[in-house]
Amino acid sequence: MSTLSPAQSAASPSLATPMSANFDNLAVIILAAGAGKRMKSPVAKVLQPVGGTPMLGHVISTARRLNPRSITVVYGHQGDEVRAAMANEPVTWALQTEQLGTGHAVREALPHCAANGVALILYGDIPLITEPTIRDLSAKAANLNALVWLTQNVENPAGLGRIIRDAAGALVEIKNERDASPAEREIKEIWTGLLACPLQKLNEWLPKLRQVNAEAEYYLTDIMALAVAENTAQFSNHPTHPWECAGVNDQAERARAERQYQLNAANALMLQQGVTITDPARFDLRGTLECAANVAIDVNCIFEGHVKLAENVKVGANCVLKDCSIAAGTQLLPFTMIDGAAVGANCKIGPYARLRPNTTLAADVHIGNFVELKAATVAAGSKANHLSYLGDTTIGAGVNIGAGTITCNYDGANKFQTIIEDNVFVGSDVQLIAPVRVAAGATIAAGTTVWRNVEAADLVLNPKTQMQKTDWKRPVKKPK
Ligand code: UD1
Ligand code: CA
Repeated sequence: MSTLSPAQSAASPSLATPMSANFDNLAVIILAAGAGKRMKSPVAKVLQPVGGTPMLGHVISTARRLNPRSITVVYGHQGDEVRAAMANEPVTWALQTEQLGTGHAVREALPHCAANGVALILYGDIPLITEPTIRDLSAKAANLNALVWLTQNVENPAGLGRIIRDAAGALVEIKNERDASPAEREIKEIWTGLLACPLQKLNEWLPKLRQVNAEAEYYLTDIMALAVAENTAQFSNHPTHPWECAGVNDQAERARAERQYQLNAANALMLQQGVTITDPARFDLRGTLECAANVAIDVNCIFEGHVKLAENVKVGANCVLKDCSIAAGTQLLPFTMIDGAAVGANCKIGPYARLRPNTTLAADVHIGNFVELKAATVAAGSKANHLSYLGDTTIGAGVNIGAGTITCNYDGANKFQTIIEDNVFVGSDVQLIAPVRVAAGATIAAGTTVWRNVEAADLVLNPKTQMQKTDWKRPVKKPK
């Protein structure tokens, strides 16, 4: 069984073999201080989710896979929220109090980086960037001791920095949208925003940047012209996949990144694990999904946290599975919700079943429509097929729970346990007032309220009579 983490699944299954390099001297700098006004959201842009994880989290975990010497995150706008959300990440924080541009942002990070080695600049709003691309980029800068720009040819370069080359194809300068002439705006080669560069060079160049552009910002892009002026070698590299450098600036771009992320995750499951995913466009992974052989997933399912599906598990349409494990051969019928539960082998769950935290089902258990289980342990071969609430309960093997059975576990203040031993038969519409124990083999008649413990093999019923009136006339509506 192999696990797909969100970050891994962002990568394509057919990744090129990355250049090998030792990144002991690599300082990763992630820019994440911008306001993200176009998001029109109270949530900081870099905390907007893709695949259930903040974008910045994806960038940090992809960077971590290079084993760099340091990772510095430049933060500023909504800084407290950003830092709090990433509190568990082993990164260094560099505060940029005023957002004076990308060049200024990198400069704020430099005091947190060593003086030598290579810097790799990533953006917190480019969440799908893959490990091979940044590995190649960093290795090239380290091996050639040069500035390497990650550039890409795109259909629609609007809003992005255009790469200006001379007649021989050498890099000359970058013109950002607002500073580019109409002719320059036709150029399709753009800077993705990512680069790798010897730290010594950055330390020399960044203090030389001036706010002489349409936005009066310190543009990182200006270091291309500085390198040309000094005759410093610089190169371009391209991303491994066309989709990975897509920047996310508004909700429509976030949604596009989300779909790409999900497609990558579905492709990895299909191509690496042989999972049958009915429609990868209707598949959502917001965590990690472990699949054994011959797993099938129908449309519109959502997987959150860590989900483990064993051999031959079938997941029906519209299931929501969170932090759970499903053993071999089990079928989840449509609209089943499982959260924090362990389901045994060859069970049949749903349609419309709900398993809540701390529920454990053994093998061959059947849980049917509109049955809710919470903190319930059910032994092998037991069935609750219709319309029940089973909470804080231990149910033995071979038990039948009739339709409409309710474990009354709550007195308004405290919760109590119901114990139903092996081979008990519970008829329909039964209330079990906890704490209560029904011993093995007992039979509870339909419509019974069980207040007291039941001895093994007993039959329990509440005396009720059936009254009957002959020729009963139902009331009729008065004529208007
Ligand atoms: C930038 C580049 C552009 C490139 C594009 C790719 C510059 C001047 N422009 O433009 O050439 O094609 O990225 O996406 O470099 N940030 C800070 N502090 C700041 C400003 C920005 O941390 O003061 C961060 C933002 O949070 C964001 C990233 O830097 O993650 C890029 O900033 P943004 O304003 O989006 O730059 P673009 O206009 O996209
Ligand atoms: Ca941007």
